[in-house]
Amino acid sequence: MTNLVADLVLKGGTIVTDTTQYRASIAIKDGMILAIGADDAMPPTHAIVDVTGKHVLPGAIDAHVHFREPGYTHKETWETGTASAAMGGVTTVFEMPNTKPPTGTVEALNIKLEAAERQAYVDFGIYGLMGEDNLDQLEALIDGGVAAFKCFMGNTFANLPSPPTGAILEGFEIVAKHGLRIALHAENASIMARRQVKLQAAGRNDPLAHLAARPPVVAVEAVARAAILAEWTGARIHILHVSSGDELRPLREAKARGVDITAETCPHYLLLDEQAYTDKGSLIRVNPPVREKTHQDQLWKGVQDGTIDMIATDHAPHSHAEKHNEDIWCADCGFTGVETQMPLMLTQVRNGRLSLNDYVRMTSTAPARAFGLFPRKGILIPGADADIVVIDLEREEMVDSGVLQSKGSSTPFDKVAVRGVPIHTLVRGRFVMRERQLVPDAKGHGTSVRRIQQMPTPAPRNLEHTTAAIIGASGRP
Ligand code: DOR
Ligand code: ZN
Repeated sequence: MTNLVADLVLKGGTIVTDTTQYRASIAIKDGMILAIGADDAMPPTHAIVDVTGKHVLPGAIDAHVHFREPGYTHKETWETGTASAAMGGVTTVFEMPNTKPPTGTVEALNIKLEAAERQAYVDFGIYGLMGEDNLDQLEALIDGGVAAFKCFMGNTFANLPSPPTGAILEGFEIVAKHGLRIALHAENASIMARRQVKLQAAGRNDPLAHLAARPPVVAVEAVARAAILAEWTGARIHILHVSSGDELRPLREAKARGVDITAETCPHYLLLDEQAYTDKGSLIRVNPPVREKTHQDQLWKGVQDGTIDMIATDHAPHSHAEKHNEDIWCADCGFTGVETQMPLMLTQVRNGRLSLNDYVRMTSTAPARAFGLFPRKGILIPGADADIVVIDLEREEMVDSGVLQSKGSSTPFDKVAVRGVPIHTLVRGRFVMRERQLVPDAKGHGTSVRRIQQMPTPAPRNLEHTTAAIIGASGRP
């Protein structure tokens, strides 16, 4: 009978999934959920934590973070980035390849995997780079353990060149055969480069010049183009950081055509507008830019009607000095986010803009499904990983950049009042944050999600037209 003793029971909370909420206790054993049921129906257990009055959610899965290691460890490390995730109720992150070296080869991937395994508080997937120069590396990266790919259609921090459309098509052809999802930074590099040069020549270096360089057409064109290439090749794609209302139309149309396309937006696009350029100065510089209020309103509609599948953060830490510059073109783009998403968005739940079930779907269930982790992650059911966040919907706090775990802790939400915060975070049954305190011993507990990832059967299309098909079976010229 000893094998039926649970390690831990979280007693008396309200379990929340993407579709339901109910009062129940939850028993955990060997990192997995053993049972969910009435408080008096739990198996014997070594430990009980009373969470009466609290809500128990599947931990957030943030599909978009930049942790900077290797290469830019003054901005962030795997330790500080995943500590920030743990404090933010995030139990899995997908980390971006614009590090130094970029994650475009197996050697670079191995350097990153080693750093991550050694330091991570939470589980992680690693994005491999899809660039023009490393198409011959994509299959080795898959074998080496990437969880997905990232393609920079538009350039951003680290200035990885954006591949020409021909190379993107070829990359999609290769990855479509394997079924992994390809995430796109969907901005048209050529439009914004030309505009930036002209704005600079005209003497514009104020914060709003950044927005002027990247009008919505920059994003819409890239989303539509990516969707066409995905439809043609059968590649699965994910549109990162949707920032404009205009992008919703190509997204809706592609979904209606049956393209396997998912999309995320971020708290800064839902909660900020052009006023931020006046209020925050260069701190607000991010790619794509925070836009006018009308876009914010349309993005909320896209959240509510399901066009936007997920909320991610684009956690992009930089040092204080790198963020603050009189010349907008010299300020680094992006800001911290993985630790503040949950309190900010739970505050919106409190304000009635999103149900708690929708919140769980957009921050956990949907990313788990899109990246092949469901139902091991993204839901609370027996047999799933015990990736759990306990939240207190009544607790009021103020976002304070001074206490964030992230190294590059500049945030446009500093001193914003929030109501609803994560109080415990468990990754595979282990506390990584407890009573709003990081659990330092949990450093290194995080592991690569590739051990469980299972994407649906690949669905490549137009195989007779692929580059490999037209130049011979080997796929090599
Ligand atoms: O503003 C941004 N910064 N947008 C991105 O897509 C990348 C990021 C970074 O890595 O700093
Ligand atoms: Zn990003």
